[in-house]
Amino acid sequence: MKNKITLTVSIVSILLWIGSISVFLYYFLKGKTIESDDKRTAVVLNNSEKDLVLREMRTLLLSVNGIVKGLGEENYPQAEEWAKKAGMGLVYSIEVQERTIIAKLPIEMKELGLSTHRDFDHLAGTIAQKQPIPVILKELGQLTSKCIVCHNMYKVK
Ligand code: HEC
Repeated sequence: MKNKITLTVSIVSILLWIGSISVFLYYFLKGKTIESDDKRTAVVLNNSEKDLVLREMRTLLLSVNGIVKGLGEENYPQAEEWAKKAGMGLVYSIEVQERTIIAKLPIEMKELGLSTHRDFDHLAGTIAQKQPIPVILKELGQLTSKCIVCHNMYKVK
């Protein structure tokens, strides 16, 4: 009898444990999101979090603009500097403020975002090597495809 109770208690604890882990994993992978009317996934952020994300986005556009302008003038150092500004350094510089946001983003969005920043660092390297401009533009084209992919999938609410 005593053994049976112990067994039942153990099974219940294990089930509860599995349940908690599943709930944690579900939210970790899904983030804080809702479906939106335009079929994109909307990430639910508060106002200051939204401001921070959009400010980061405007920095990305500024960088793309600076890179293209720099390349147009064959000013490699200028193009490289703009590429670096959107690299992983940008992520580290706002890491603390972004902590609450990170938990609300779906995992694929986080991965896509980080890989875009890594691509900017890679691009800065390609520019530093003074590769031919078509080679650099091809890489920039691949990088900016990620902007499009993410914008097609997600929005902020
Ligand atoms: C991981 C996802 C992701 C990637 C990658 C991404 N963006 Fe965004 N971006 C967003 C989201 C989400 C919004 C908000 C869109 C909305 O709510 O409609 C946004 C908005 C913007 C905005 C509008 C900012 C504002 O003030 O309203 C600009 C500009 C922008 N992105 C530029 C870029 C550029 C340039 C790139 C690539 C170099 C890029 N983004 C890559 C997710 C992403």
